[in-house]
Amino acid sequence: MEKKRIVSGMRPTGKLHLGNLHGALENWIALQNKGDYDCYYFVAGWHALTSEYSATDRIRENTIAMVIDWLSTGLDPVKSTMFIQSSIKEHAELYVLLSMITPLGWLERNPTYKEMKAELADKDLGTFGFLGYPVLQAADIIMYKAYGVPVGVDQLPHVEITREIAKRFNFLYREIFPLPEPLLTDVPKLLGIDGRKMSKSYENSIYISDWGDALKKKVAAMFTDPQRMRKTDKGRPHLCNVFTFHQIYSSSDDVSEISAACKRADIGCTDCKERLTVRILEGMQPIHDRQDYYRHHLGKVREIMEDGNNRAAKIARITMAEVREAVKI
Ligand code: TRP
Ligand code: SF4
Repeated sequence: MEKKRIVSGMRPTGKLHLGNLHGALENWIALQNKGDYDCYYFVAGWHALTSEYSATDRIRENTIAMVIDWLSTGLDPVKSTMFIQSSIKEHAELYVLLSMITPLGWLERNPTYKEMKAELADKDLGTFGFLGYPVLQAADIIMYKAYGVPVGVDQLPHVEITREIAKRFNFLYREIFPLPEPLLTDVPKLLGIDGRKMSKSYENSIYISDWGDALKKKVAAMFTDPQRMRKTDKGRPHLCNVFTFHQIYSSSDDVSEISAACKRADIGCTDCKERLTVRILEGMQPIHDRQDYYRHHLGKVREIMEDGNNRAAKIARITMAEVREAVKI
């Protein structure tokens, strides 16, 4: 029997931070390694254009850098299909057809749309493409008749609109598309060094590429339990972002020890952070080594992208033949 398909994408907006890694990407890798699913992961260049249309200089290099990050953190091109959205023109064709049947109200009411518009207030996002973002995303997902979409909670409204669009297509033309389920991760939420959501636009992120002194400085600057002003104050590790990081990067024995020591004020935040820096450096070393390897073997990266594109295109062609029949176009 064919395995159920999983589809997800990321916009190539620059280097990945640890929030991206432990949020989305590790979920992708876990689903890949489970072996129960056929996984399709793509670089969503057209989605990047919806907000970055006036600054496109870096999209190509960001695309390759993103694939390198995926390979370096554990996506395996044999188990997963990695491809480039803009190489599979069928996505654009399906997007056009879906745009005909998507009521404007669904897009205007989309909470992610309103939020992003507010967050990126310095950009003019009053464009057709930006409003249509979820329609393009729906095309990406249903093209592969996906069973599941691994995403963060911020993407839930988009998966919901995808389901609505798929339902409407099935109703108007023919029952072609299954309704995709969102697959959420339950990793502990890593915050930025200032205690807000880790986000590139807040300049509070720790990046996979942060190294040596740069990393040390960022960890040293991290907010901790706000009530722990002096070293003699007892701490509350469950309210401390540094502790959340320890839960990811340190052994469980160390985590228990740090938790107990913090609560008794036996360890100070400076020491606690120094220990964390060491652990992050250890954890990142193999990723850095692989990044280094792929950066020096770009031909290999291109081959992997080509192969993924071919695999994705095969399915996209079959789906679109079916869709054209159904729409009678
Ligand atoms: N909107 C997603 C994000 O910002 C990226 C994306 C585009 C996506 N198309 C997709 C995610 C299809 C899942 C499925 O992260
Ligand atoms: Fe956080 Fe560590 Fe300080 Fe406790 S000792 S408040 S866990 S940084």
